[in-house]
This record gives sequence, C-alpha cells and structure tokens, in this order.
Amino acid sequence: MLAVGEEETYSVVKNDVRVTLRIRKPVAFFSLIPVLRPRPVTPQSRFFSPFVVAFIVITTVLILAMTIGLLIHFLAFDKKTYFYHSSFQILNVEYTEALNSPATQEYRHLSERIESMITDAFRESNLRSDFIRTHVVKLRKEGNGVIADAVMKFRSSKRSNRRSMKNRIHSVLRILSNSGSLEIAPSNEITSLTDQDTENFLTQECGARPDLITLSEERIIGGTLAETGDWPWQVSLQLNNVHHCGGILISNLWVLTAAHCFRSYSNPLQWTATFGVSTIRPILRVRVRTIVSHNNYRYSTRDNDIAVVQLERPVTFNRNIHRVCLPAATQIILPGSVAYVTGWGSLTYGGNTVTDLRQGQVRIVSNNECNEPAGYGGSVLPGMLCAGVPSGAVDACQGDSGGPLVQEDSRRLWFVVGIVSWGYQCGLPNKPGVYTRVTTYRDWIRQQTGV
Ligand code: ARG
Repeated sequence: MLAVGEEETYSVVKNDVRVTLRIRKPVAFFSLIPVLRPRPVTPQSRFFSPFVVAFIVITTVLILAMTIGLLIHFLAFDKKTYFYHSSFQILNVEYTEALNSPATQEYRHLSERIESMITDAFRESNLRSDFIRTHVVKLRKEGNGVIADAVMKFRSSKRSNRRSMKNRIHSVLRILSNSGSLEIAPSNEITSLTDQDTENFLTQECGARPDLITLSEERIIGGTLAETGDWPWQVSLQLNNVHHCGGILISNLWVLTAAHCFRSYSNPLQWTATFGVSTIRPILRVRVRTIVSHNNYRYSTRDNDIAVVQLERPVTFNRNIHRVCLPAATQIILPGSVAYVTGWGSLTYGGNTVTDLRQGQVRIVSNNECNEPAGYGGSVLPGMLCAGVPSGAVDACQGDSGGPLVQEDSRRLWFVVGIVSWGYQCGLPNKPGVYTRVTTYRDWIRQQTGV
C-alpha cells in the first residue's frame, strides 16, 4: 500500500544525458480523512488519537447522563405533598337522621358521590397529574341542607407556588357547582393544611387506618405482626397491669369488649386499659372507671358476651390512638367477605399470650355453615358471628377475647363487626372463631354509652 506523498524516481538516458524524473505520487483522497483510515500513530497526529476520541465519547455520555438524571429528579422526585380542606354546601340534598353516622348507606353513598365529583373535576383539569385523592371527612347539617368537609391531597414540584396552587384548585372547584346531579354551592374557602392538621381531621372521625390518614394510594396489610398505628382502636385490658383481654375503642371514653373477661374479676379498680402495639411498653395507660356487662350474658351458652368499659378520663385521639366505626344495626355482614382479627392472644391453644400485637386475615362464615354438625352443631346463636379460614390456620385464641374483628367499607373506613368470644380450641378446620355479632347489640351499645 502506498504511503501519502511517497516519491518515485524514473531515470531515462537520452543523448548520453541522464534525465532523472522525480514524481510525487498523488495523495489518495480517503487518506486525507485520517480517522477513517488506519495509519501509524505518530506524535504529530495527537488531535485524532483514539484517546482523544474516547475522551470525547465518554464526556458526551457523562453530560447526557447528568442531564437525564437531573430531569428525572426535578420531574419525579423534587415533589412535595400538599393537603387542602374545603367545605361543600350540597343544595339539593336534605339533611336526614340517616346522615348522622358514617355507617349508613345514605352517608356512604352521598360521600362517595361527592368524592367522585371532586375527583372527576381534577382528573379533567390541568391539575390532573398533581391530584392524588380526596376524602369526605364529615357530613354535617346546616339549616335543612348538608355540608361536606373534604380534604384533598396533591403532589407537585417543590418550587411551585402555593398561592397559585390554591387559585388553580379554586378554579377547578368552581366548575363543580354545575356538573353532575348534585347541586353544590360554589366553594369559597380553601384552606391549606399541614400534615398534622390533616391527621387531626382524620383521627377525630372513626375508622381511619394509616393509609387513609395520609390519603395514600396504596393499602397494605402485610405479615402477621402489626406496626405502630395499624389498629389504633385496639386496647389491652389489663388486670393488675397484666394483659388479660382485648378491647375496642369506640369513643374517647368507651371501650367495647367481651362480658366473659370480667366473670371472675368485676372490680374496676383492678383494671387498666393500655394503648399501642406493645402490652409491656404501652404508649398510654388509663384506669378503668366502670364495667358494664350485658345483663343477659350467660356463661353456659356464651350468649350476649358483650360489655362496655368506661375509662377514668377521655383519651386524646392521635394517629396511634383513635376509635373504630360502629356498624348500623341493619348492616348485612356478607359470608365470604374479608375481615381482620387482632390481639395479643396465644399463638397455639394452651400457649402464652404475646407482647406485640398480631393480626390475622379471615373470612366471614354464615351461621348456617358454622352450625353444621361437623362445625358447632347449633351452638352458634343469632347474636354470634363466625369467621375463619378453611384450613383453620388463622384464628383468634386465648387472650384475644374482647378484641376486634373489623371490616373495611368502600370508603376505606373500618367497622367493628365482631368481638372475640369463643371457639373450640384454636385454629382447627371446621371450628372457626366465634364472635359477638356487633350489629345485634348496636342499640344496647347506644343505650349504655350514648355512642
Ligand atoms: N375465650 C377466649 C379468650 O378468653 C377466646 C377464644 C377465641 N377462640 C377461638 N378459637 N377463636 O381469650
């Protein structure tokens, strides 16, 4: 192969004269593009050395990577959560008794309609990517009409202006008034809430678990060991400061439990209620003032195994301590539906109670199925409710008595449907846990406590 600018010499002898011709060969075109053509590396060609090329490529890749990284950071991670509160006046719905409690179909239905109207409005606005979730915290009466208090959660860039955010929310909510079948008065006041404000709002009402308190999108109940705040209505009723029974917080003053817990120990002075997932390191301990067991509780049949306990002083609700919702007396508990039982009871029949709260997922079993000959053969009375899993592997046990069996409604509020009462040993197939059916005693609870 010819090197660039190589010379060739031709000699001719003519008339005794030697003529020497020196011809410089033309430079091949492609040899002018040094990078495309391999050639020996000489110190002079440093501008195009492979090292320089590698350097340029690496630098370019690095700059690109940094740009993409920064973009991702600012678009996705540089975000903050914002909570807002607004009150909506519903003009074409009359306030009725049924809207007094979140347990009624009317309350649930109206709240759901309002929640989906607000959600739809944001989904169709330019705030669609910022809007996370809304929850109607409370329906209340004004005149003959209804006011709905709602909290709304947004997630947007940390650098976005809170004031303009408020204005944008305002303009979305203004359009609410003329959409859908609910007539909503143009909402006036939008208040920004701190995380603490939001928590206070949601823990004053019944039945909120951590996912609702933070208006988070996901709901998870994993494992069997409960985490702080997972079951904020769970109470440990302690006899001389030792865990004896579970209990269920239904107001800031009243705990629902089983009557059989007090059969041998009915003196309130011996009892305290503790809160928090650990029975040995509780976050709060309150003395018991009175114990009211159902007058018709029968040890032999276990009928009417229900009691209410009044605390010596009201507790202050926070994210780790607040009340569960009570179902309406008419609420139908569907066989096959999922429920959770929680407590510090033993893990095996005859075993010791535990110090850290545990949870188990079970399903409601109909009284008919529960009363089959292979099951309890007729011992399950109408005021009782069965729940378990086919294998039996998940169940309440000794020490869980008086504790809650809860279910979640469509709005993610939690309702107590059962009180741990009895069972044949623990965790056996065909022998589900038997609970006091709370709906049967809804009116009794109201008579005793006013809740
Ligand atoms: N009576 C027991 C107690 O005092 C509760 C039994 C519940 N048993 C069951 N298999 N679910 O703690």
